[in-house]
Amino acid sequence: MKFETLRWNRGSLELLDQRLLPKNIVYLNLKSADEVAKAIREMAVRGAPAIGCAAAFGIAVEASRLKHLEKTAFHAALLDAFKILAESRPTAVNLFWALEMMKSAIDFEKDPGSIALDLSEKAGAIFKEDIEANLEMGRHGASLIPEKCSILTYCNAGALATAGHGTALGVIRSAHRQGKAISVHACETRPLLQGARLTAWELAMEKIPATLICDNMAGYLMNKGEIDMVIVGADRVAANGDTANKIGTYTMAVLAKRHAIPFVVACPVSTIDPHTPTGNEIPIEERAGSEVRGYGETDWAAEGIRIRNPAFDVTPAELVAALVTEKGVIQAPDEAKISALLAF
Ligand code: MRU
Repeated sequence: MKFETLRWNRGSLELLDQRLLPKNIVYLNLKSADEVAKAIREMAVRGAPAIGCAAAFGIAVEASRLKHLEKTAFHAALLDAFKILAESRPTAVNLFWALEMMKSAIDFEKDPGSIALDLSEKAGAIFKEDIEANLEMGRHGASLIPEKCSILTYCNAGALATAGHGTALGVIRSAHRQGKAISVHACETRPLLQGARLTAWELAMEKIPATLICDNMAGYLMNKGEIDMVIVGADRVAANGDTANKIGTYTMAVLAKRHAIPFVVACPVSTIDPHTPTGNEIPIEERAGSEVRGYGETDWAAEGIRIRNPAFDVTPAELVAALVTEKGVIQAPDEAKISALLAF
């Protein structure tokens, strides 16, 4: 890997600013929970597992910044940091999972300096375990991919969306490294173009044969027999297997069903939320209309038009052929299989 999505540098978090990719490689140096929450909200860092890792480091950064306070003030300020980070984005459950993990690492009996140390170690462990989970997921997921395969992927579920390697793109990466003849169709993923800017960048860097398409070209290519499999990541998998991912994923799943193409979801177990019974209860983020009006400095929509900008949609479990996690592959996921996986 020629870049790091996030890295810990002696009490501060360095984040590759994904808003500027692929044109500019700029690392932000973040020194407070407020700054990390802003980076998550404004999508300098994005992708469910990467958001979780950033939030964990956000707590570690804040603890290190405040460790000279006396005990009561330190505890109160730290709890504020959890609240600020939890409010940064609503859909990816990895954010809340990582914050819970960080909370469980706090021994309030200890002095602030020791708590800060424990929290930086815990954030480091969450980061390391995410990379390991992705490599395992890659191994399991690659077993589903035939020797020659044309894969469509959506949004960015690569190294940039995780601590490293990636989930959906990690499976593709692993299969490619095994010598399989993989070719990828990356959907550009309007409105924020995570496919065109980020997935295409990762694929080009790794020299994996890839073609960029507009989102509305997927059906045509499936109908022509040019796609053998769809692999996507997830922001939250409900207890029954319904899966929230980038807006437009549901469209791909329906198209895949119509053309009898397997639709595969890859995510770490930390993306499965047993407390959300079905997709109906997954909170869907609505973002600013300005993201749909245009891109960057360019605004192309007609003045006065009303805009909707839901950032995610939900694919019902019945459209998911397989769920790949670091614990293995579940075919046709449902509530019973998911609960068995979580208990394993
Ligand atoms: O809005 P984003 O860019 O954070 O959305 C990202 C996605 O939808 C990804 O597909 C998902 O988080 C999985 S990342 C491994």
